[in-house]
Amino acid sequence: MTLFFSGCGLLGLGEEKGNSSSKIPEKGSVSGGKAMKIVVINSSPHSDDQSTSKYLSSRFIEGAKGAGHEVFAFDAANADTHPCRGCDKCGMDGPCIFKDDIENTLMPKMLEADLLVLVTPLYYFGMSAQLKTIIDRFYSRTSKLHGKKSIFMATSYDSADWTMEALSTHYKTLVRYMGWQDVGQVWATGCGARSLVERSEFGDMAYKIGVNL
Ligand SMILES: Cc1cc2nc3c(=O)[nH]c(=O)nc-3n(C[C@H](O)[C@H](O)[C@H](O)COP(=O)(O)O)c2cc1C
Repeated sequence: MTLFFSGCGLLGLGEEKGNSSSKIPEKGSVSGGKAMKIVVINSSPHSDDQSTSKYLSSRFIEGAKGAGHEVFAFDAANADTHPCRGCDKCGMDGPCIFKDDIENTLMPKMLEADLLVLVTPLYYFGMSAQLKTIIDRFYSRTSKLHGKKSIFMATSYDSADWTMEALSTHYKTLVRYMGWQDVGQVWATGCGARSLVERSEFGDMAYKIGVNL
């Protein structure tokens, strides 16, 4: 059983608009009470204390760690990363030609993780290039990343009900292709500045997803 909340910061809780409703799991329903290995992928170039999306992930991490889960956080915007070149040397099942932070640090953590948390600011109604760079590099281990649990969190300036539609559809399609189980979503519209996201209900939603796992 999952609780759904509207993705628009200007709408009341429980009201659904568009296809981007935030989603919080019921307590213990995801982990069954066992400690999970969680990888959080941040992708905002803003600093930790200015970023709106990193505020959400920090609240999620606070909740998840408090509930006894192990969390590894990756900073895609400041790490050494390279976009997939489509060379196919990996054959979708092997090492990547790039020996960067994705291959050496993030990929081993993702392969052993139970849950992947993708976090992004909304950029032109999609995810940041920094996050897309990571996702395209899934190519080298697509089948090994199959079957994970996943969470998506995004922040945006706009608050119209269609603001997150394209991104939430992309996430839904990714979940389907990767054979993932989506266990939580936060679509924090109307949150273009740190003060706005801190005043919104979305930080508490992110915390609750973490603590409820
Ligand atoms: C390149 C760029 C593109 C953006 N595109 C959108 C957009 O399409 N819709 C929107 O509502 N906000 C857009 N924004 C605003 C950001 O989503 C918003 O400021 C967000 O809170 C930034 O999150 P961060 O502080 O974690 O980076 C854009 C910002 C930038 C820098």
